[in-house]
Amino acid sequence: MVLAVVNNKGGVGKTTTSVNLGAALAAPKRRVLLIDLDGQASASMWCGVARADLNPSSAACLLENYPVSKAIRRTPTSNLDLISGSSELANADLALSEVAGRELTLRHALHQVRSRYDFIILDCPPSLSLIGVNALVAADGFVVPVVPHFLAVEGLTNMLTAVDQVRRRLKARATLLGILLTMVTPGKKRAEVREQLRSQYRDRVFHTEITTSRSLEEAPAAGKTIFQFGPHTGAADAFRRLAGEILERVSGRK
Ligand SMILES: Nc1ncnc2c1ncn2[C@@H]1O[C@H](COP(=O)(O)OP(=O)(O)O)[C@@H](O)[C@H]1O
Ligand SMILES: [Mg+2]
Repeated sequence: MVLAVVNNKGGVGKTTTSVNLGAALAAPKRRVLLIDLDGQASASMWCGVARADLNPSSAACLLENYPVSKAIRRTPTSNLDLISGSSELANADLALSEVAGRELTLRHALHQVRSRYDFIILDCPPSLSLIGVNALVAADGFVVPVVPHFLAVEGLTNMLTAVDQVRRRLKARATLLGILLTMVTPGKKRAEVREQLRSQYRDRVFHTEITTSRSLEEAPAAGKTIFQFGPHTGAADAFRRLAGEILERVSGRK
């Protein structure tokens, strides 16, 4: 299944979710491919790729017809492969806009590798730009990380409406797999927002919440997933539980 991690805001935990959920799902009988679609390439850094070593990246696959199977690299995590991102993705919107079937480019590119993986996770840029739209069209499901702060409810509603419009316009089949509360901190106001999100979106919100954690903040600079950086931390546990919920929801759909 192809899973896009989307939110039109930056800094809400998309990359943190993509990398660590990918690592949590990876297992001997479960192969996972993480695709970094953000020009910042932070998912690639999390996976230990040096900035000088980012190419060939997903940009080459999207813009130059570079074969996806050749862009795939292994990561230090067994059964977790990666297609890196690179700064060329910043030009992708403009370059893709010239291409016929520009919204379908990623979907077509993934065709040849789809069956090799149990999960393909798309770490999206912080907008519903052409790359974000390509991700939604390629995906079977999407996960929305949300930081439960002031205006989060309104932001989420607007974003889901925007996603819906894209889906209808392009007849994309991706459905909402779940809303993930991330960077959760204690406090009365925050708790109120969480309750509001849960009462409005009910079982679409994952039970698992990702709290703010020093390890999650420090792991990317070390080029390590949370399972390498702090396998016994609460954050690692939370991502294991999230992977369990995802597997449950996916099997419930079949
Ligand atoms: N639960 C968390 N606790 C502490 N820091 C976090 C947590 N989630 C994300 N971060 C940090 O916040 C920053 C933004 O997160 P990131 O996943 O890159 O967001 P996005 O991909 O949505 O822009 C990163 O520096 C990351 O390390
Ligand atoms: Mg990101």
